[in-house]
Amino acid sequence: MEPLLSINGLKTHFFTSEGVVRSVDGVDLTIRRGETLGVVGESGCGKSVTALSVMRLIPSPGRIVEGAIIFKNSDLAKVPEKEMRDIRGNEIAMIFQDPMTSLNPVYTIGMQIAETIRLHKGFDKKKGIQRAVELLRQVGIPRAEQIVDEYPHRLSGGMRQRVMIAMAMACDPKLLIADEPTTALDVTIQAQILDLMRALKKEHGTSILMITHDLGVVAEMCDRVVVMYGGKVVEQADVETLFEHPAHPYTRGLLQSIPSLEEEKEWLDSIPGNVPIPSEMPEGCKFAPRCPHAMDRCHIEEPPLYELAGGQKSRCFLAAGEGTLCRMSY
Ligand SMILES: Nc1ncnc2c1ncn2[C@@H]1O[C@H](COP(=O)(O)OP(=O)(O)OP(=O)(O)O)[C@@H](O)[C@H]1O
Ligand SMILES: [Mg+2]
Repeated sequence: MEPLLSINGLKTHFFTSEGVVRSVDGVDLTIRRGETLGVVGESGCGKSVTALSVMRLIPSPGRIVEGAIIFKNSDLAKVPEKEMRDIRGNEIAMIFQDPMTSLNPVYTIGMQIAETIRLHKGFDKKKGIQRAVELLRQVGIPRAEQIVDEYPHRLSGGMRQRVMIAMAMACDPKLLIADEPTTALDVTIQAQILDLMRALKKEHGTSILMITHDLGVVAEMCDRVVVMYGGKVVEQADVETLFEHPAHPYTRGLLQSIPSLEEEKEWLDSIPGNVPIPSEMPEGCKFAPRCPHAMDRCHIEEPPLYELAGGQKSRCFLAAGEGTLCRMSY
């Protein structure tokens, strides 16, 4: 199937006074029409910077230094800012972990949604507010006609995230990027928000890029998954394959460290060591210093992303040794 968005060889670096931080350092991934693609990995591996690169919202001193982000025959890494403004919101919308970062505290909920609709659909204010009420109802907000007149701080975290989803969906985007949309919410509200996103995907055929550290969310929501480590994709697979036959030692570590209800385990404590900081990336495989299977070669040479059967990919020499695999990209 033709992809909706393809990221090819993306590098996004931050040019800080202490040196260059290679947050995203050669990421390839594609999102197909109507699918939910999960992006997982420990804190600092470059998930948010990848998402912000797609939106072209990289804060200074960062910038996209290499690669292409192909969406509808345009390269988002290069389109003029004006064109990007049309795409943002209209075609690609993003919701964040903390909705307060994107809601404006001095305007009512209704005004903010109406303004988004006015900008993208050309509705006047009155029509915009009417549409805002409809959208708030759709995302399960009770008393929507009163909530439009409220300010963001008067709502709970779950309600604010619903407002963000309503705002994101106001323009019926082709792609919704959700960066840890439920991390800050309690479990019941989290389940409701995920249900809502699933319903939107079903009704509108929206593709979703779901960034999460929660493998439970991945299992429930995603069709395919990309695992990131040290600014690179280390594994890619459809969701069943990832859980049943992970092909990278890092993914195996992630799966082993899913917290169980009996033991309150911290996420990832079964993988010894820490994520390398981008300014001190090891030579060779970035995961080698923590990998129980590392060979001498892994500390010297970086493995390419090998293509395995069924579209699975793994950046590990051992995966390459397991079958007839061909070399993909570096
Ligand atoms: N404005 C910035 N200036 C310098 N470095 C940055 C900046 N923003 C991000 N980075 C660095 O880029 C790397 C990747 O950050 P990113 O926010 O993408 O991680 P993440 O995978 O989203 O992590 P988390 O799970 O904690 O959200 C981190 O090491 C971070 O310190
Ligand atoms: Mg992040």
